[in-house]
Amino acid sequence: MHISVLLKECIDSLNLKEDSIIVDCTLGYAGHSSEILKKIKKGYLYAFDQDKDAIISADEKLKQIGSNYKIINSNFVNLKEELKKENITKVNGILYDLGVSSPQLDEKDRGFSFQKNARLDMRMNQNQELDAYYVVNNYSVEQLIDIFRKYGEEKYAVSIAKGIVKNRPITTTLELANIIKDNVPFRYKKEKHPARKVFQAIRIEVNDELNVFEKSLRQALELIDKNGRIAVITFHSLEDKICKKIFDEVSKIDNNLSKLPIIPIEYQPKYKIIDNITPKNEEINNNNRARSAKLRIIERIR
Ligand SMILES: C[S@@+](CC[C@H](N)C(=O)[O-])C[C@H]1O[C@@H](n2cnc3c(N)ncnc32)[C@H](O)[C@@H]1O
Repeated sequence: MHISVLLKECIDSLNLKEDSIIVDCTLGYAGHSSEILKKIKKGYLYAFDQDKDAIISADEKLKQIGSNYKIINSNFVNLKEELKKENITKVNGILYDLGVSSPQLDEKDRGFSFQKNARLDMRMNQNQELDAYYVVNNYSVEQLIDIFRKYGEEKYAVSIAKGIVKNRPITTTLELANIIKDNVPFRYKKEKHPARKVFQAIRIEVNDELNVFEKSLRQALELIDKNGRIAVITFHSLEDKICKKIFDEVSKIDNNLSKLPIIPIEYQPKYKIIDNITPKNEEINNNNRARSAKLRIIERIR
């Protein structure tokens, strides 16, 4: 089961009106989308996901609430293009709840988890070609070191990457987890599971998570209408860094102009940062996934 993170905070922050047009870029198991649909009785919801299992289950749930929605089976990097097909060029709210859902992690055949034995897979989109098996068995040692460092902030990237290359072919998640364990110092094994960061790094690489998020968020800023809001929940410091960088960039006045007594309207920022929220202890105690979550909200002001 998937427990939605920062659900109330996120829904409140979107300032939903009865006739709002809203985009949920990460439908998942429709936790957020269900609450949105309940509030926009005369509006419309467009919901993206690239995982067909999630879409089937979310559709069942949304059907019970209303019919004013459309599920778009596509990567959210295609946000503008997919909405254009629906004749939509402006919307009132956009939500991202990034990363993988609990069912994706729990379903052992998806190969995301280092605790459940499965073929190395980790694709959110089951039709995509690149999978974890290809990354683990074909990337050069330098490429592996690079992704383990960049996406996993893994300090033993070199010894783990060399261990992987030496033990190829590696077919399953547990084989990989054991090779990682064998290539880190003993004391490191006592901390969190030593495979955690490497699995995360491979998942980010397979799904190109950081690039597609950055590209999509820039499109979202163009699509959002005046007074509309974008809410982003991240679970990883690199995702949060991208979000913060973009939100800062569009909400600040250029340094050279900030010295002027009056700033012409065309040079004033079009967006205003509304809030940064982290889950309360109570939520973290009930849902371990919430511990690294951060919600950032921005509004288009002109
Ligand atoms: C954390 S879950 C969302 C959970 C949802 N908010 C809920 O409350 O049930 C993230 C979902 O986004 C999807 N997803 C992640 N990256 C995506 C992308 N680039 N394009 C489309 N869907 C994506 C995943 O397949 C997953 O189902």
